Amino acid sequence: GAGVVVTGCGSSAPVARLDNEGLSQIVETSDEWIASRTGIRNRHIAIAQETVQSLATEASQKALEMAGVAPEEVDLIILATSTPDDLFGTACQIQTALDASKAVAFDLTAACSGFVFGMVTAAQFIRTGTYRTILLIGADVLSRWTDWSDRRTCVLFGDGAGAVVLQASDTTDALLGFELRSDGSLNGCLNLAYQSESKSLNGEVSVETGTFHPITMNGQEVYRFAVRRVPEVIEKALFWADMTVEQVDWLLLHQANQRILDAVGDRLKIPHHKIISNMAKYGNTSAASIPLALDEWVRAGKIQPGQVIASAGFGAGLTWGSAIFRW
Ligand code: ACO
Repeated sequence: GAGVVVTGCGSSAPVARLDNEGLSQIVETSDEWIASRTGIRNRHIAIAQETVQSLATEASQKALEMAGVAPEEVDLIILATSTPDDLFGTACQIQTALDASKAVAFDLTAACSGFVFGMVTAAQFIRTGTYRTILLIGADVLSRWTDWSDRRTCVLFGDGAGAVVLQASDTTDALLGFELRSDGSLNGCLNLAYQSESKSLNGEVSVETGTFHPITMNGQEVYRFAVRRVPEVIEKALFWADMTVEQVDWLLLHQANQRILDAVGDRLKIPHHKIISNMAKYGNTSAASIPLALDEWVRAGKIQPGQVIASAGFGAGLTWGSAIFRW
């Protein structure tokens, strides 16, 4: 079958920013507390016109441009998101906004692991020869679902989008190894759950209608989970790739917390200068965080062609997974 190559990337974030100082006027917190515990100093917050669709479309246009791919060449669009503009899916709206008329489009939900799960999903379509050009997007607007009176969560999240173009190659395969995991028994430590209310229709039949709760999280449990489990999947993905940790040029983790990044790097003995981090500027943007950071590092010329990137996502579900790929 064909190999997978990454031919372009792009990203987008809302214009409005909220720094830690601004947050401390909303909840009882401080720049010192947030920065020392998480590494986050700023986040971008979407206003009404900035939607998952608009942010994802902008990121996608940049990725397609870098790849030199016209929208009508795209066979498949996968949108990794947990905050769609429409619960029936947002990928089709992006297809239309991009004018990617040939593309099949669907949403994929795996919270902060969505981008890595999406990359592996896309690779299956390429390797089986089904599709040759795939646009993979990670986009989330968590600010819609954040409890802005809960200082334990609202300081962590921000909005954004990132995209990559994955294409078939008959000569090389840049997806070197991957490992995905799920554990629903720990679902309760991170939720954006539906809360229903019973409403009687006619005395016999009642329906459950309601809305979603804001995000709830057991921070310490999530922290312990990430630091323990993320190194395991990276080691396993490296094993499948037949590579050693010394061959990794960049560690590209979901941007949740600087302490998690440093602890994972330490466990894997990856020096800190190889750890990609931009959460100081964006906070935790969920499915967007990996492609957003990738795009910044590529456009800054830090990631060079041929370099090996060990990526890993982790988050609600619980879900976690790693993909080792060559840029
Ligand atoms: N400002 C000031 N004080 C705060 C804040 C805040 N923003 N948030 C919590 N506190 C207080 C708490 O109320 C608590 O005070 P108390 O002892 O008087 O009750 C104290 O600080 C310590 O709270 P902890 O929750 O124990 O703080 P901890 O050191 O564990 O840090 C944090 C919290 C930063 C959330 C940490 O647990 C963490 O990073 N966990 C991982 C979370 C994460 O990354 N989640 C997302 C991953 S998955 C995804 O991306 C969806």
